[in-house]
Amino acid sequence: MPERTTIVLAAGEGTRMASRRPKVLHRIGGRTMIAWVLEAVRAAGAGRIALVVGPGRDDVAAEALALAPKAEIHVQAERRGTAHAVLTARAAVERGGDLLVVFGDTPLVRSETLRALADALKNAAIAVLGFRPADPAGYGRLIVESGEVVAVDEEGEASAAEKKIGFCNAGVMALSGKHALELLERIKDDNAKHEFYLTDAVAIARSLDLSVVAREATEEEVMGVNDRNELARAEANAQRRLREAALEAGASLIAPDTVHLAADTRLGRDVVVEPYVVFGPGVTVEEGAVIRSFSHLEGAHVGAGAMVGPFARLRPGTKLGAKSRIGNFVEVKAAELGANAKANHLSYIGDASVGADANIGAGTIFCNYDGFTKHKTEIGKGAFIGSNSALVAPVKVGAGAYVGSGSVITQDVPADGLALGRSRQAVKQGWAKEMRALKGKGKSQED
Ligand code: UD1
Ligand code: MG
Repeated sequence: MPERTTIVLAAGEGTRMASRRPKVLHRIGGRTMIAWVLEAVRAAGAGRIALVVGPGRDDVAAEALALAPKAEIHVQAERRGTAHAVLTARAAVERGGDLLVVFGDTPLVRSETLRALADALKNAAIAVLGFRPADPAGYGRLIVESGEVVAVDEEGEASAAEKKIGFCNAGVMALSGKHALELLERIKDDNAKHEFYLTDAVAIARSLDLSVVAREATEEEVMGVNDRNELARAEANAQRRLREAALEAGASLIAPDTVHLAADTRLGRDVVVEPYVVFGPGVTVEEGAVIRSFSHLEGAHVGAGAMVGPFARLRPGTKLGAKSRIGNFVEVKAAELGANAKANHLSYIGDASVGADANIGAGTIFCNYDGFTKHKTEIGKGAFIGSNSALVAPVKVGAGAYVGSGSVITQDVPADGLALGRSRQAVKQGWAKEMRALKGKGKSQED
């Protein structure tokens, strides 16, 4: 039997998003909606993937190809309905494998649900996915008679009695490869919107004595995103799901509702995340590390047992070694810190490598940028950088070396050496007392 094809429909206009960006490129948990869908499709064992996009939507195609490089891209020149969109991928339909149709704007659908729907084709020509939304308005209604789905009536076509039906079409549909082409070709645009409705395939199948079954999903999973309010609701649902998964995997989120995760955040066992932490994309935290309150992390790797924050910022390219410490008001970017290295207060560490056990004193700034290019700073193992130092890159501080507080370091410091890059202190004995005597003549100290 030919391989299954999953057809992802993403040619919608998305005008209600009021955005220059196509709808499916809006993000949830830092990941585009189309990427969420493709991820679920991949995990469900998609077979081939065919993506239907609107004209000129190279950006949507590029995003899809980044995740599914073998996806076939089909352009729907005119938006004439969901069945028309499916037939835009005609070559895929004609191959004869089963079809799974998913929407690009239904981002939280689970792979288990897709798999169950595809499996339901063992006993049916069509499997539809139903759900019971709090407010069914706008959705197609599933008409069920003695356990069989007999039709899907779109909102515009549904009678008053049908509109009271709470069981709605989620949009995801599986069609058996044996019948798909025939069913799709029979669909007409004789409805209020003059669109070719994919959902009409159900009544057509019934008229041919083919059976149609329904599976059910939760509203949380199949809610569509058509405007920014729905996008925010989908984000909230995704966050809940991500937090639950993190907790199940053994991380402690002390106040889960205040922690914002990305779709790809990886938290190891016994990681503790304090309240009010934001994870952007690309963060991995190893076992036992603690992320303290009000920290912001993206593109960072935090080693086992490390401590970050409170009020720390880890930017892309940060790699923190085991048991290292990044304290309050410290920003790290494109920098690797070895095991036990510490930067506890008020520092900027950019484009650098910091050896194991090194100590970066309070207020140290890695001056990595000359207005044109970024330069690298290398700090050796066990080096000690005194507080309020400026390290002007490119520069190297050798293993075990000391940098005196307040230094501006422009030249390499040899291992185990001491560098002082500050003006020598002058002390004038009794100067203050003399000054007071001179200036204070006839004046009281309080004036
Ligand atoms: C659709 C279903 C409805 C279901 C609802 C669930 C149909 C006819 N109706 O309605 O039963 O309850 O989803 O959210 O299928 N698209 C294209 N090309 C087109 C038209 C649509 O690619 O010509 C894509 C859209 O980008 C979107 C999806 O198909 O991803 C659904 O289209 P939309 O217009 O949102 O359908 P609904 O009216 O929401
Ligand atoms: Mg829709």
